[in-house]
Amino acid sequence: MTINTVQTTAIEGQKPGTSGLRKKTRVFMQPHYLENFVQSIIDAIGGVKGKTLILGGDGRFFNDRAAQVILRMCAAQGAKHMIVGKDAILSTPAASNLIRKRNADGGFIMSASHNPGGETEDFGLKFNGANGGPATEGVTDKIFERTKEINTYRILETHDADLSAPGKLTMGEMEIEVVDPIADYATLMEQLFDFDAIRSLLQGGFRIRFDAMHAVTGPYAREILENRLGAAAGSVVNAKPLPDFGGGHPDPNPVWAKDLMEVMMGQDAPDFGAASDGDGDRNMIVGRGIYVTPSDSLAVLAANAHLAPGYQAGLSGIARSMPTSRAADLVAEKAGIGCFETPTGWKFFGNLLDAGKATLCGEESAGTGSDHVREKDGLWAVLLWLNILAAKKQSVQEIMQAHWAEYGRNYYSRHDYEAVPTEHANALVERLRGMLGELQGQVFAGLTVESADDFEYNDPIDGSTSSRQGIRIVFADGSRIVMRLSGTGTEGATLRVYLERYQRADGHLDLAVDDALAPVVKAAEEIAQIQKYTGRDEPDVTT
Ligand code: G1P
Ligand code: ZN
Repeated sequence: MTINTVQTTAIEGQKPGTSGLRKKTRVFMQPHYLENFVQSIIDAIGGVKGKTLILGGDGRFFNDRAAQVILRMCAAQGAKHMIVGKDAILSTPAASNLIRKRNADGGFIMSASHNPGGETEDFGLKFNGANGGPATEGVTDKIFERTKEINTYRILETHDADLSAPGKLTMGEMEIEVVDPIADYATLMEQLFDFDAIRSLLQGGFRIRFDAMHAVTGPYAREILENRLGAAAGSVVNAKPLPDFGGGHPDPNPVWAKDLMEVMMGQDAPDFGAASDGDGDRNMIVGRGIYVTPSDSLAVLAANAHLAPGYQAGLSGIARSMPTSRAADLVAEKAGIGCFETPTGWKFFGNLLDAGKATLCGEESAGTGSDHVREKDGLWAVLLWLNILAAKKQSVQEIMQAHWAEYGRNYYSRHDYEAVPTEHANALVERLRGMLGELQGQVFAGLTVESADDFEYNDPIDGSTSSRQGIRIVFADGSRIVMRLSGTGTEGATLRVYLERYQRADGHLDLAVDDALAPVVKAAEEIAQIQKYTGRDEPDVTT
């Protein structure tokens, strides 16, 4: 076996976004593309010599090939031990758990999350640190700097490792341990939740439907929900993971999980519906006849987490990304616990979780999680909901209504304008930035601007500052508009417009969401001239 030192040249555009590097699969498959990025990661983390690392991915097209390249590169550079999910599969939360449980130095996760998969769709790679969470901004910047100066990479010339069954192998001097991707994760879930109570609920006629969207969570959900908790066979649908996710868009929201929405809104709907995304970190929660927004879900989970054994002692604090609705803040305030507002992206929660400042975290983009791992976790959210439903013996609808009656309701929606020409999207944002100083006191669609800024985050733990994290316009009645450009898209720019309107507990709690938000939508158009800049009359996706 020889170690090859391969000459290469820097490739433009390898800047990791909100969550690792995501590109069209064919871009990743170009000569040296993956290798350059992997070498840049290895260099940025100070090499892999003597290290133990985790490797797995969501099983999308190119997952198997990329895994072999990563193994050969790590073997060439002295890694001691690679722990790899069978067939190079690991959901993102399961990978995070393994890093922590096995005291690994970090891990490579191959995924483009909820982006479609396949040869003509998207692929992605990210590195998580020893705490199990996405590389910090500092490490991410270093990786990007390396991609710009790299001129060689090292790779072992050898056969593919057989990853098709658990067991131990070697590659050069490196030990490869192939593990069952589900076992450790399922054990962790059993420790956090009252499986007996959930089992009784499910055996007492409570029906659930979990849509795995042909992505990585299928086998996890089958094992946990059907085998261990006794949900009826067939409760998990689209359970077989496919390299192209069956041609679908594995993003659990009412638009892409339309089939599930139809079942849940139809006659004889199950009591509880849920879905997860490509790599298993996102979740969608829907009751019979009622969709729960991710922002509301975070608030309800925070208010009731103590009903699950793993959170019996209460929460130290709650953290949410800035665009996420402020429903969770009201729960934190009432409970007298800390409340944190961070930029978009899970990496910003890591420090708060490590420092014990926050127990639960969430994002409006269907991400919820806790300090049990350092990633958001789709099945975890589903199990916490089921634990709460089992303990409260109420329907999803009843739980939501009681929550709003106690805290008030934050009507919320996100409008996405996708594949907008980058220069138009940038122009819209630049124009807004230029206007921020003058907005206060102005009235749009009957709403008076109380404050306007471009969100800047000062990390309370490491003191770092992240600026330009999104335009935030707050109105006197508590309504809010946030606008930012996506950091995960692979085509043009995606403008995200986040709309929120608050009604107090004694206000209107049962409006149609569109009606409640109508004035906020109008104000957003008046302020940002979205139609003019995007050339669209309507958003491409509304969630
Ligand atoms: C999106 C979501 C964000 C999430 C990220 C990774 O990022 O908005 O909340 O953390 O995907 O799943 P964006 O495309 O908005 O940068
Ligand atoms: Zn994901």
